[in-house]
Amino acid sequence: MSEGPLSRPLTGTVHVGGAKNSALKLMAAALLAPGRSVITNVPDILDVEVMARLLERLGCRVHVEHPAVADLGAAATDQNLSGTVTIDVPEELDHEAPYDLVRRLRASISVLGPLVARCGRARVALPGGDNIGSRGLDMHIRGLELLGARLSIEHGFVVAEVPDRLAGANLWLDFPSVGATENLVMAAVLAPGTTVIDNVAREPEIIDLCEMLGAMGARIDGISSSTLTIEGVDRLAPVTHATVTDRIVAGTWAFAAAIAGGDLTVAGGCAHHLDIVLDKLTSTGAAVHAADDGFRISVSERLGSFDVVTLPYPGFPTDLQPFAMTLAAVSDGTAMITENVFEARFMFAQELARLGADLRTDGHHAVVRGKPCLSGAPVVAHDIRAGAALVLAGLAAEGTTTVTQSQHIDRGYPHFVEVLRGLGVDIARVSVADVDR
Ligand code: UD1
Repeated sequence: MSEGPLSRPLTGTVHVGGAKNSALKLMAAALLAPGRSVITNVPDILDVEVMARLLERLGCRVHVEHPAVADLGAAATDQNLSGTVTIDVPEELDHEAPYDLVRRLRASISVLGPLVARCGRARVALPGGDNIGSRGLDMHIRGLELLGARLSIEHGFVVAEVPDRLAGANLWLDFPSVGATENLVMAAVLAPGTTVIDNVAREPEIIDLCEMLGAMGARIDGISSSTLTIEGVDRLAPVTHATVTDRIVAGTWAFAAAIAGGDLTVAGGCAHHLDIVLDKLTSTGAAVHAADDGFRISVSERLGSFDVVTLPYPGFPTDLQPFAMTLAAVSDGTAMITENVFEARFMFAQELARLGADLRTDGHHAVVRGKPCLSGAPVVAHDIRAGAALVLAGLAAEGTTTVTQSQHIDRGYPHFVEVLRGLGVDIARVSVADVDR
């Protein structure tokens, strides 16, 4: 660690609400039980609206509500602005998830398992979502087939049919895929008999989903381990369930303090879900302390660098890799970053290089040599995390940084600009016409 310019230190409190990657799946899980389910602590982001529209197309009535505040700037740093989604699920669901909605939201694929279980058939358009890699569906498809469904890809749709009925089976995943684990669990809870799924993902969002399913009446053993054993039941009941807090948003704020310097309290941030991340930050010179409801991170000097290898939970999360790369670009030392989960995440490296970062990529490795400061430039956000990381890189860059396609950021970060402004950052949303002028 050495002295160096830490521009625009961030001081104050940020509030972390419910996790996007959990709330969207909990909304899909509501499909499994006719009646009214209520999901609380839902983040105020575009993806939740898109998922709500999708559930409506499947026959549900959905109401999304967030706290109304007079001054969003002040409220964004003072309180958790998460809201509530109320979903009325009919006895008879429509079974087709159309392309116009699915292409806007990768997580739409998580209606596949519930539709197969509830309707015995599904037509789900192949998803779009972030530009971070090919994102295969082979494990979803293979697992559902072993449970008794027949699947095919036809004209851009995943088409599933259950010729007889679903039945419990022994399944395994080649890789602990988050999405495949979720879809298979949601199908298996209504499949008669015993299903054992090996090598499942163990992310906190999976545990959250299993806990909601348990409250609905599902019988799932081994929650938070690598093997889930599920006894199928005939019917589930609707529930009210609070979404787990967003570890990726909490981790983003930890990196924000690490990159810009300062003293941030991350209220609602679960330090335990970020063990490996906070430990890395501590090893480079950041001071991290547990706070009443969350954690506090203080950074008063330029940090040292650290190597990163992304892995399924509890390994270093791929969603925080762009932030680690940004920190490495301004830290004192050289870092090796290895991306094992999404091959295209390094598209972000090209944008970071436009801000003057000294880095080289080779396959799924990147070597980043830190320098005291970056240099502001126009850059493009290719996905949610890359967009937020480019904004944080702008905090450590001399001059003005303009991030276009910033709508990606709004898909994952509630009121990102307002929160940063509340922390004293000189940041504004401008229309594309103003950027081009
Ligand atoms: C979810 C998260 C994403 C996070 C990722 C890993 C949501 C909406 N998104 O994505 O933010 O980065 O978990 O923590 O929750 N794969 C296959 N075949 C399959 C399934 C996956 O090859 O059938 C591959 C994917 O292409 C990818 C890797 O496995 O390379 C991991 O994917 P997965 O864990 O399924 O991530 P998602 O559920 O898509």
